[in-house]
Amino acid sequence: MVWSEAPKAVCVFLVLVSTIFADGQLDLHFFQNDYHLTIERSETSYYNKIYMKTASLVSFRYNRTIIAQNFTFRFNIDVGANLEVRFASNEYRYFPLRLGDRICRALDADSGGLKQMIGKCGNISDCMFFKDRTYHVCNAVPDESKLPPHIPSGRYMLEIEVSYGSIKLFVAKIYFAITRPEVK
Ligand SMILES: *[C@@H]1O[C@H](CO)[C@@H](O)[C@H](O)[C@H]1NC(C)=O
Ligand SMILES: *[C@@H]1O[C@H](CO)[C@@H](O)[C@H](O)[C@H]1NC(C)=O
Ligand SMILES: *[C@@H]1O[C@H](CO)[C@@H](O)[C@H](O)[C@H]1NC(C)=O
Repeated sequence: MVWSEAPKAVCVFLVLVSTIFADGQLDLHFFQNDYHLTIERSETSYYNKIYMKTASLVSFRYNRTIIAQNFTFRFNIDVGANLEVRFASNEYRYFPLRLGDRICRALDADSGGLKQMIGKCGNISDCMFFKDRTYHVCNAVPDESKLPPHIPSGRYMLEIEVSYGSIKLFVAKIYFAITRPEVK
């Protein structure tokens, strides 16, 4: 399978960076209405077995058109509100700069409809995570209108790395397609 090529990734990266840092501020309140996002598959590719009991992300067909995600995780340490998230596609890795932020800030800004996605199904009620508790998010489908604008059409693999301080906790991979209605 061939994923988007490097030149396109460079473009996406620059667009994302310039959008996100518009006005010199990191703004996670995205809005877009020109493309569709279709998740094809998602999985956890790594979790730290010292600091986590489990981190399992599964994707499944929710109905004819939608693939939804279930995510179950449990920490062996209290991470509180200090989870950090970084996004990178396999191509973006050639760059020293990565997009990163606190998960709680992304939640506050409702990036990708995160807040609604978490509130709808599962038992995460706020942005504090304690050890020895199992957290569930179920039937999660991102809200495409709350994603960054101007992502070129194509198929992508997004890597999401979640860490606590300098400890890498888990890495999730999401394979998705960006499509636009054909203009005739
Ligand atoms: C699939 O589920 C979504 C969310 O509940 C709904 O908006 C959509 O209409 C459903 N599609 C089909 C084909 O049932
Ligand atoms: C979430 O639900 C599971 C069972 O469905 C339960 O074992 C767990 O303790 C709950 N976690 C929290 C943080 O309430
Ligand atoms: C996802 O979670 C829902 C709600 O808990 C459950 O009904 C469904 O079986 C789960 N699907 C998978 C594939 O784990």
